Amino acid sequence: MKPGVAARREAATAIGRILRSGAFSNRLLELSTLPPRDVDQLRFLTYTALRHLKRIDEVIERHSDKKMSTLDGEVADVLRIATAELLFGRAPAHAVVDTAVESIKAGKRGRAAGFVNGVLRSIVRRAGTELDSDEPRMEYPDWLVEMLDGQWERDEVTGFLTDSLGDAGRQVRARPGTDVAGLTAVPGIRGAFDWTAPGELPDGFVVQDAASIAVGNAVPLQTGDLVLDMAAAPGGKAAHLLDRGARVFAADRNQRRAISGHRRWPEVAWTVADGVHPPFRSGSFDHVLLDAPCSGLGTMRRRPEVRFRTDPARIAEMADRQRAMLARALSLVAPGGTVTYSVCTVTAAETVEVVAGLPAVPPVDTPGRQWGNGLLLGPHSTGTDGMFISIVQRR
Ligand SMILES: C[S@@+](CC[C@H](N)C(=O)[O-])C[C@H]1O[C@@H](n2cnc3c(N)ncnc32)[C@H](O)[C@@H]1O
Repeated sequence: MKPGVAARREAATAIGRILRSGAFSNRLLELSTLPPRDVDQLRFLTYTALRHLKRIDEVIERHSDKKMSTLDGEVADVLRIATAELLFGRAPAHAVVDTAVESIKAGKRGRAAGFVNGVLRSIVRRAGTELDSDEPRMEYPDWLVEMLDGQWERDEVTGFLTDSLGDAGRQVRARPGTDVAGLTAVPGIRGAFDWTAPGELPDGFVVQDAASIAVGNAVPLQTGDLVLDMAAAPGGKAAHLLDRGARVFAADRNQRRAISGHRRWPEVAWTVADGVHPPFRSGSFDHVLLDAPCSGLGTMRRRPEVRFRTDPARIAEMADRQRAMLARALSLVAPGGTVTYSVCTVTAAETVEVVAGLPAVPPVDTPGRQWGNGLLLGPHSTGTDGMFISIVQRR
């Protein structure tokens, strides 16, 4: 195989698995066995294609006599990766076209090589003029832009959409007693640091976005308190609560995820349980953390595909489940205790509206802006994932 073909082929296969088989981009790319330089190219191509997919598909359709929806998946994905590179990359156009043709010939759709060549050469002839605007709103489904416009000021929507197209970087939580000399702290979020060195992390650090670390910090617990993490897998926040001195029960409805959480954090007491019908007596915990299942729209820097996996109807369903779980969580807390409600998303339906009317307050000493009776963090404001946190009191 010619140099450069392997990374481009793997990028095309990756977006196929992400778009049609439900794989998550951040997890899938971690599994690549390509050499490091090719992995950088793989990441660039895959993320660029996913972040700009809507416009890339529009460009391809303008140069093809076929609709994207009628193309074979492998052909569509090779075209997407090559178009991403033609529009946003730096490689010479003829090399991009040649490797795309080579790449399609190396797979099962070799007969489409002429079609791929024709579409890409047509795009090359107009490449300088295809992207006449860099308006971030064009990179997202219309329903999402409309939903955000209905809940925030225009500047905040633009900031969020722009910064959700960027890279997340790598952040870590330092476990208690770990030497953090020389590391750059994330402002205002205790225990969170930027991590730029490549390779494995040394003991004492856990990879975690700073917004997730802010959630673990927000639970108002005392040493020795009994805390239930009600949707806990894979367990990053449960481990954080343990590090803060709590006795932690971790529950998750998904058995496979709970087992892998148990393998990773055996010090936590894991159980498989549905948070809508939890098998615990009412009032048995000092605090509950409900890091609820959600649409995940706050994580689009590392998972650009989530914007294509949800829609207003699914968001409404999520919100119903979040409300049901929160009601259960409140019943499990002893009087005077709290439920910390968090979601890594930014839709009003899953955030402010879930805790509206409840005796709830934003966490203290945490960066972000107050939204209703919670706190909103985001790539545009705190340089973190989008996250909503609210502390609900049990009276
Ligand atoms: C946002 S993730 C939790 C992440 C976790 N708190 C951490 O920090 O590692 C949401 C979790 O909710 C679980 N889940 C979804 N529906 C549930 C339900 N009805 N009851 C309990 N867990 C549920 C999912 O399996 C998923 O692991």
